[in-house]
Amino acid sequence: MRTICFPDYRHLSDFAADEIAIAIKNKPDLTLCMASGHTPALAAELLVKKLREEKIDYSRFTFFGLDEWVGLPPSNEGSCHYFFQQKIFTPLALKPSQYFLFNSLANDPESECVKMDKAIASKAGIDIMIVGIGMNGHIGFNEPGTPFTILSHMATLDEVTRSVGQKYFKQETSLNKGITIGLGHLMNARKVILMANGNKKAEVIKNAVEGLVTPSFPASIIQQHRNAVVLLDEEAASLLDNDLVTKF
Ligand code: GLP
Repeated sequence: MRTICFPDYRHLSDFAADEIAIAIKNKPDLTLCMASGHTPALAAELLVKKLREEKIDYSRFTFFGLDEWVGLPPSNEGSCHYFFQQKIFTPLALKPSQYFLFNSLANDPESECVKMDKAIASKAGIDIMIVGIGMNGHIGFNEPGTPFTILSHMATLDEVTRSVGQKYFKQETSLNKGITIGLGHLMNARKVILMANGNKKAEVIKNAVEGLVTPSFPASIIQQHRNAVVLLDEEAASLLDNDLVTKF
């Protein structure tokens, strides 16, 4: 695992977008799994800009949405679906066959999980998985206590996730369950990029990067991945041991 610290959010987002754009250029049928949320928002915009401006062929790459709030329609502005539609699918005019998202309105969420696992297998796995970190150390909706080997699954959201998650919604929204690509997929991904910015993420990043590797703190799994990079701004990196951090 490498940890890189950037002067600010813009630099770290630009670096992340570059990593993905270059990877698609080198492998046009790349498979990308991406989180939504505030952290990757700018990277998503910059990625779209780079792919278009640099005329990179993105007609063959495949996108997997990391997670979704169960029970929210795609039209809800706080849904992950809405985020991806606005930031990536519409601007790039992706064909629906190019992206796989959980249908969080499905009567049978378990079959959604099976479908996602089959889709990932049918594309020979995930090349790049770009994720954020929650205030309880979750990745996607892999909540504290989730086994490291788990594949796609539905999770009961913990108290921290339910309350922090309100930031995505204009009005108080009932958030009880999430559906997510699992940590087993993260361990199998050929590359993992974990991004975090801001002072509020400093402590969870310290736990993830320097703390005990344990399912009680899911993001600590990053330490065990064979090809992982943690991209931080100075605030999120502020509690880390400087000797272990590369300055950009
Ligand atoms: C959310 C999502 C994650 C996201 C994380 C951090 O609840 N389930 O996929 O990465 O929490 O979100 P943010 O980037 O908005 O801080």
